[in-house]
Amino acid sequence: MKPSSTLEALFFVFFNFILVPVAIPNFAAADLDSNLIGGATSIVFATLGRSSYAFDIYSLSTSGQPIELQLTDGKSVNFNGHFPSFSSFSRINPILAKHALPSTEPLLHLIYVTERNGSSNIYLDTVFHSTGPRSILEIPTESNGNDERVDELKRVQTRLVGSNRRVSMKDRPSLVGESLIYVSTHEDPGVPRASWTAVYSTELVTGVTRRLTPKGLADFSPAVSPSGVWTAVASYGKKGWAGDVQELGTDIYVFLTRDGSNRVQVIEHGGWPSWGDDSTLYFHRRCEDGWWSVFRAIIPITNGQLGVDEVAIQRVTPPGLHAFTPAASLANKSFIAVATRRSGSDYRHIELFDVVSNTFTELTRPVSPNAHHLNPFISPDASRVGYHKCRGASNDGEGNNLLLENLQNPLPGISLFRIDGSFPSFSPDGERIAYVKFPGVYVMNRDGSGVRSVLTRTAFSTAWDWKRKGILYTSVGPTFASESTKVDIISINVDDDVPSYKQLTLGGENNAFPSASPDGKWVAFRSGRSGHKNLYIMDALNGEVGGLYRLTEGPWSDTMCNWSPDGDWILFASDRENPGSGSFELFKIHPNGTGLQKVIQSGSGGRTNHPWFSPDGKYIVITSDYAGVSAEPISNPHHYQPYGDIFVIKSDGSDIRRLTHNSYEDGTPAWSPKYMKTVDVEWSNGGSQCSFEDCHWLNVNTSTPVVEDQYSSATKIQCA
Ligand SMILES: *[C@@H]1O[C@H](CO)[C@@H](O)[C@H](O)[C@H]1NC(C)=O
Ligand SMILES: *[C@@H]1O[C@H](CO)[C@@H](O)[C@H](O)[C@H]1NC(C)=O
Ligand SMILES: *[C@@H]1O[C@H](CO)[C@@H](O)[C@H](O)[C@H]1NC(C)=O
Ligand SMILES: *[C@@H]1O[C@H](CO)[C@@H](O)[C@H](O)[C@H]1NC(C)=O
Repeated sequence: MKPSSTLEALFFVFFNFILVPVAIPNFAAADLDSNLIGGATSIVFATLGRSSYAFDIYSLSTSGQPIELQLTDGKSVNFNGHFPSFSSFSRINPILAKHALPSTEPLLHLIYVTERNGSSNIYLDTVFHSTGPRSILEIPTESNGNDERVDELKRVQTRLVGSNRRVSMKDRPSLVGESLIYVSTHEDPGVPRASWTAVYSTELVTGVTRRLTPKGLADFSPAVSPSGVWTAVASYGKKGWAGDVQELGTDIYVFLTRDGSNRVQVIEHGGWPSWGDDSTLYFHRRCEDGWWSVFRAIIPITNGQLGVDEVAIQRVTPPGLHAFTPAASLANKSFIAVATRRSGSDYRHIELFDVVSNTFTELTRPVSPNAHHLNPFISPDASRVGYHKCRGASNDGEGNNLLLENLQNPLPGISLFRIDGSFPSFSPDGERIAYVKFPGVYVMNRDGSGVRSVLTRTAFSTAWDWKRKGILYTSVGPTFASESTKVDIISINVDDDVPSYKQLTLGGENNAFPSASPDGKWVAFRSGRSGHKNLYIMDALNGEVGGLYRLTEGPWSDTMCNWSPDGDWILFASDRENPGSGSFELFKIHPNGTGLQKVIQSGSGGRTNHPWFSPDGKYIVITSDYAGVSAEPISNPHHYQPYGDIFVIKSDGSDIRRLTHNSYEDGTPAWSPKYMKTVDVEWSNGGSQCSFEDCHWLNVNTSTPVVEDQYSSATKIQCA
């Protein structure tokens, strides 16, 4: 079969859309306390880079025709695709057969992850030709974008798994027989700093769902063998996550796809498995020489048993470039597809690697040189490679990047938004939002209208005065800097025609994270003036010259303070139990310096940061690594802290609830007393699409790209 000419035709036409409602598998419903929060409120948080992803799935022919086809519909963020085999597809036809569909053969099936409608779901797109040629081979190769095709193609979108009500991350789908194998985070292991990521199988026709990962373990990056019998995963086994943010220290395990049984470790140190045939696994790992490389493992099978003691492992891609996230195919065992980072390019590209002649063929760079291309997958007949990349304003025309993205929230009564910026804060009446977008501070109405620049310098952390209308506090200078770095707190009157500024701290000793007292008299902040970052309180109007009190003292870091609505407490994050370790816990203290208490910690060595009280003071929203990491970081663009998710706890630290489920860096939440309508707000100018960065630690400008990775738990492996 040679579907390329047909797929090229798809590139030029518009689709009719049919959204097919299907029964969503019934996961154990989280028992939500509908009285969780008094009154309707909103939470806004930031996710590094995510607002400019605009991912769609594209494809190129493996035989070198330089026509890149966009396969997904240019809405939301679509990624991590899978081409199901036609035979497997025929077995789930009952899902589509319920609906009036064209009688013609489908042209294309694509299974992928999408984040549309504010939650992570797995979709199947099937594209039909409703009239005319009966087979894809009969469609003319030449396509000219003629409008007469408009009514001829229908895209049928089916949500396979996921739910608008129950929030979880879904990832890495593949179809085997009538079952979808995929990753989901919907089950809480109940242990701090344990990943919720596990592999499930859902029979699509019946909706019956089975967990394949043993309880208490986390599995990433599942891959089903060509026969469907085996599934390989990257897993920590019982070791658990050790804080890795670059390469995960995973090993590769194989189990029976049917029920998860016969689970064995086949490869020590590896991730992102992909099967060449039922006894050949490709995978990636970072070697001691610093390069990410693809490896091949041959696993002998005798009488249906894997010969785990006789696995032969070989490095496949050479040092000198990074090659990772391999995809192999049974239909053509002579090549694999990989993502690469090479010196001479700032972008991640997809290449074919011929495993017989050991040569690379560039796939994406000749066609689309200045974009990152991620996570390749191969069509069943090996004629096409799919991958995702940012569609960019030119391909899309819609310019639909979001200033405020409405997310599904498992907590009733609270609307949840991702803002395209960071350090948001609400005016006391909840009518206005201040936020930071490098390099400056902006203020807008809560519906996203009236965006106005109020400071054009590098700044972070914003907070409003509770009494004086229009007074905003921020810290001017770089984030994540040492105690002596020049950072000072200013107040801005954002209601002036030309905003006026007043400098409140003077010494530049990393004075940051202002939070005002509800009586309008004081501002709490952290300062490095003693040589350590501790908390202080100063006069709100005149700054430290008007009065300065030290609140905490010690050779550690206290930071990110938030004053309670009743005025009695100041929340803050601190590494005081293990100074310098990078581990932060949540504490609270009375403004008069008494009553210090630990509120919560995210397990041993964990991080809990950016606390913010609910408007009634009974709850706290935080960002934390409580749920570990949810995907291999190399499968995403750069995230400094890919473990960050947003949680809500009671103000005594009990009853933690997870709000966000993704593999991104979610942080800096703020809580508004007003309910924001649950709708997306688009940038009026389309926003800055594709402006995210690739993983910073994929260093290519050196012959020995060994990186400092203080959190790595991966065993160092000589790869030569
Ligand atoms: C998703 O949101 C769009 C509007 O953005 C709406 O038209 C559509 O019905 C929603 N789909 C679902 C499944 O909720
Ligand atoms: C398999 O792939 C190789 C390398 O791309 C190509 O030369 C060969 O023709 C392919 N074989 C088949 C049977 O398609
Ligand atoms: C300190 O402040 C708290 C509440 O803000 C109050 O309950 C307590 O009595 C105060 N303690 C002293 C010694 O003033
Ligand atoms: C690597 O070198 C390229 C070209 O010289 C340059 O554009 C890029 O910024 C460098 N990257 C790093 C991480 O130093």
